[in-house]
Amino acid sequence: MQAVKNNARILVSKVLSSYYSFITSFGKSANGFPKAPDDFMPVIRFAVCSDIHISGKESTPDEKHPEEERLAKLIRFMYDYSSGQKYSSFDALCIAGDMTDGGRDFEYDAFNKVIKENLRDETKLLICTGNHEYIAYRDHDASLGARMFEEKIQPNQDTHEIINGYHFILCSYSEDGRTFKSKLPWFDNEIKSAVKESGKRPVFIFQHPGPQATIYGSVCWGDRDITKIFRRYPQMINFSGHSHYPVNDPRSIWQNKYSALGCGTLSYYETDLDGFAGNFPYETHEAAQFYIVEADKDGNVRILSYDLITDDFFGNEYYLNSLADKNYTYKFAKMKKSGGKPVFPKDTNIEAHSNENGDTILVFTGAKDRLFAESYKVSVLSGLKPVHSSSFSGKYMYLFEEDRYEVNLGKLKKGNYTAYIKAMNPYAKCSEELKYKFTVKNISAY
Ligand SMILES: [Fe+2]
Repeated sequence: MQAVKNNARILVSKVLSSYYSFITSFGKSANGFPKAPDDFMPVIRFAVCSDIHISGKESTPDEKHPEEERLAKLIRFMYDYSSGQKYSSFDALCIAGDMTDGGRDFEYDAFNKVIKENLRDETKLLICTGNHEYIAYRDHDASLGARMFEEKIQPNQDTHEIINGYHFILCSYSEDGRTFKSKLPWFDNEIKSAVKESGKRPVFIFQHPGPQATIYGSVCWGDRDITKIFRRYPQMINFSGHSHYPVNDPRSIWQNKYSALGCGTLSYYETDLDGFAGNFPYETHEAAQFYIVEADKDGNVRILSYDLITDDFFGNEYYLNSLADKNYTYKFAKMKKSGGKPVFPKDTNIEAHSNENGDTILVFTGAKDRLFAESYKVSVLSGLKPVHSSSFSGKYMYLFEEDRYEVNLGKLKKGNYTAYIKAMNPYAKCSEELKYKFTVKNISAY
């Protein structure tokens, strides 16, 4: 049964993939924003991921955590992908924290085993801590999490490396495992010197939480102190994790005083719903996405996002250039303005039926949008009386899924009902309301 499900997922994903490659072949990526020119030639390539969460109990050779497999797959994919490109190196694997679920020794051992078995000497491993590296120690002394990181990963918690002329700076949390209070002078100095040495080329900066009120998920999960530093450096590109919000949401890239990207997760998704954090989409653990980042000799940067669940690229490609001159293509307001709103096609499939328990199930296909429908709101009335209201995420992060929704309305009495369905895109633009009348004749027939 699992094999059938997986095959169906791969088939759906391949159809979507060929759609994406078709629409990305005319100078724009699937989301309609500029993509790199065809003659783009990298001089560096690296992968960025975060929030792997290798977890909780010791794995055995027979029962590995899915996150271990996903990390191994990511590394194998990067070598395969790179070997087929004109510039064929995979120079660095960057991880913006939460490698482990609790910072425990056996979690690090499982992580290190994957790295040792898959990552070659030619690829640098660049890591900083996330809050979960301190979780197991927090009730007593969070700084023990820092000691474990030093013992298991590297003696210095923070990193400043230069690879092929590009600066990489990764900052771990302070000893409290939740702020950067003691790290801010170091972080600021390193970025300052990197920017000075880089001229107009970008510098790559990593830490666990996003700068607050920038990328998607950073209102709830961001850090305010680092935001104040970053605003001084227009050519920095920042990568962060912590939120677990999907990379293929266009709000996961943000530009204004600098550039920032949220790195998603290899473990489980979270999203906003109705403007609030804390929503876990229904197949939340089917999550394994990361960025492939390439830069050319002039400081132009291409960023692709990839889904390890279906072995396919998401449609969003970003091309960042002239950052030092504040050329910000992906400003929130610009992206919001350039899009339309979700539309339900005239022939949208919608129906209601009863299931074996006598519950009424409303079924509909998703709305179309230049980006995607981020969420849906369904209301059902019996005359003037509301009998159902719900909101839920769209399936945009699941390439394996058909864009079709089933809403359980519970047990309805005999009578006439009207369902209203609205779709909303990532920039809170709503579709026209889809209206559908149906009759419950008895508990099992319509
Ligand atoms: Fe996390």
